[in-house]
Amino acid sequence: MKQFLSVHDVADIDALIAQALDYKADPLKDQNLGKNKRIALIFLNPSLRTRLSTQIAARQLGMEVMVFNIDKEGWALEFEEGAIMSGHTSEHIKDAAPILGKYFDILCIRTFPTLVNKEEDYSELYIQQFVKYAGVPVVSLESATLHPLQSLTDLMTIHEFWPNSKARPKVVLTWAPHVKPLPQCVANSFAQWMNAWGKADFVITHPEDYELDESFTHGAYITHDQNEALRDADFVYVKNWSTYRDYGKIYSNDPEWMLTEDKLSLTRNARVMHCLPVRRNVELSDEILDGPHSIVTAQAANRVWAAQAVLANILHNLV
Ligand code: CP
Repeated sequence: MKQFLSVHDVADIDALIAQALDYKADPLKDQNLGKNKRIALIFLNPSLRTRLSTQIAARQLGMEVMVFNIDKEGWALEFEEGAIMSGHTSEHIKDAAPILGKYFDILCIRTFPTLVNKEEDYSELYIQQFVKYAGVPVVSLESATLHPLQSLTDLMTIHEFWPNSKARPKVVLTWAPHVKPLPQCVANSFAQWMNAWGKADFVITHPEDYELDESFTHGAYITHDQNEALRDADFVYVKNWSTYRDYGKIYSNDPEWMLTEDKLSLTRNARVMHCLPVRRNVELSDEILDGPHSIVTAQAANRVWAAQAVLANILHNLV
């Protein structure tokens, strides 16, 4: 693997899930693979799970890890080609990224979308500029439109909690209310990975006007009827996203879309997933999060092994 920006960088999803499960069973089996290699985790936005799980994963492969909150501790970066830098930005990515590429063997980057400029966000300007100028492999810790480490974790978790390998689980991605306009990254990415994986009956449900980019959802059954979607589901992935077409807006905050035990009774005793952080009693009720159906903690714990599998693949390609 030369980089990890989306599912398109993965040759075999099942093999990568199997590798992640192998690391879960034996975390230190490749503890010298990353010896004398340095990795940077560069954040332009906050993180709890991604920041910590990726550090643990890299250390378990023997790597030296540095975390750089570039938005707070670095110079304000300019990403536009040919920019006249007379405003608030102090350093061009053209100058910063090659230096980071000399200091580190792998660069992991978290960016976020503006949720204002759809064209810029969906061009993945920020992470693509790191790829263009760093000269070393780049791993997405979440970009403007995708969150591939989360999605690999999600598929690994579904695989783990679905022991019946002969039957296809029904997996539902359901929109949930939120008080802030959130990125479409997790939903886009989950849809992209689920469709590429093809091992489940995949349904997306959301209110009208919350359609996602079809390039990610193509292949899924999409309905505005949440109850119809939930019927006989084996996994329910709960996530808010803001509008895609009229970009970055909140059209509906209908609390009726929050998953409850009543709604869950429509499912086949479904496991409930969420990438976290979650707004309790807005996106998901206490009764679900604290109840027996929730697998959100196990899901988040799996972030370590997914990251470890990805970093190991990139390290194998370096040596
Ligand atoms: N799910 C996720 O990426 O969590 P963090 O934003 O805390 O890293």
